[in-house]
Amino acid sequence: MAPLQTPLCAKIGIDHPVVQAPVGSVSTPALAAAVADAGGLGMLAMSWRDADAIRDAYTEAATATDGVIGVNVVLDESTGVLSPSACLDACLDAGTSVVSFSFGDAEPYIDRVHEAGGTAMVTVGSAAEAEAATDAGADVVVAQGREAGGHIQSDVTTMALLPRVADAVPVPVVAAGGLGDGRGLAAALTLGADGGWFGTRFVATEESGAHETYRERIVDAPETATRFTELFDRGWPDQPHRVLETDEVRQQPGADSDGETGGSDSEQVARMPDGEPISRLADMPPLDGMTGDVEALPHYAGQSAGLAQDVRPAGEVVARLVSDARAALADASAAAE
Ligand SMILES: Cc1cc2nc3c(=O)[nH]c(=O)nc-3n(C[C@H](O)[C@H](O)[C@H](O)COP(=O)(O)O)c2cc1C
Repeated sequence: MAPLQTPLCAKIGIDHPVVQAPVGSVSTPALAAAVADAGGLGMLAMSWRDADAIRDAYTEAATATDGVIGVNVVLDESTGVLSPSACLDACLDAGTSVVSFSFGDAEPYIDRVHEAGGTAMVTVGSAAEAEAATDAGADVVVAQGREAGGHIQSDVTTMALLPRVADAVPVPVVAAGGLGDGRGLAAALTLGADGGWFGTRFVATEESGAHETYRERIVDAPETATRFTELFDRGWPDQPHRVLETDEVRQQPGADSDGETGGSDSEQVARMPDGEPISRLADMPPLDGMTGDVEALPHYAGQSAGLAQDVRPAGEVVARLVSDARAALADASAAAE
């Protein structure tokens, strides 16, 4: 497929301006490699891995493709296996050249990425944060809107945020939140972005690490099916997130974002594939190989869930996003003639 080139593509060496968002433990090496192979940027979320697992995951993805594999480091110290600094060290030691930072101040870390010859991407929720990120040396800014799936760092919708961020900074901008198909990518490019960052759409792929029921729930969900909440706060307190409105969410008295949550740390609802117990209201999404009541776990998803209507190979998703974006851009420019 002919490349759909933007300044983002030149900056990080990819064919198409499609980023597979870091989606926690759902972002497997197979998923990142499939996206990279199709000419997008494949990403691994590293904050929930120790140093050995970071090296192994990066190596597995990077050896499976000639494309580019990036990593994400969450900077909020109240979550994660390693400190952000140790997580970054492990990522750079593993050999990555693209590091994305989210949920915190990236300024203390960006120089280390540059010293290693890498590119630093920083997720922001306002134009002011975007300016601060580029003042600190960010090479790419990711503008995440409130309709996004997973943990959220903005009160503003992508539609309103994106042009503000694009006007504020001189570096490539990537749009995150609410993008689910090629029309969304075309809209983001039109609003001033240089690429699209797709989370929920890639959860519903064959290579994702999501449990089968979680993928099916996303495919079945309309755009109205999510809830913005602080409910699943064990493991990452006080950070709002968007999830599908499952029975667990409906039954919890504190599901509205500032309410008190029920359940206790000692109440176990499911088990990891290796048998480790998972407590009720933990921040862990349902993964392949888990057992127990996986329906009680957070089904992180954005309002874009309405647009993810099938589980496909990730490479096909990338190709479809690019061809549909190209068609939407052609339609829009024909309408303007
Ligand atoms: C299952 C899941 C896990 C996520 N984990 C992370 C993460 O580890 N780090 C991060 O910066 N963002 C994380 N996010 C947010 C995504 O990077 C992205 O901003 C969001 O999915 C974009 O909205 P969309 O789902 O509508 O595409 C996660 C999102 C989902 C759905």
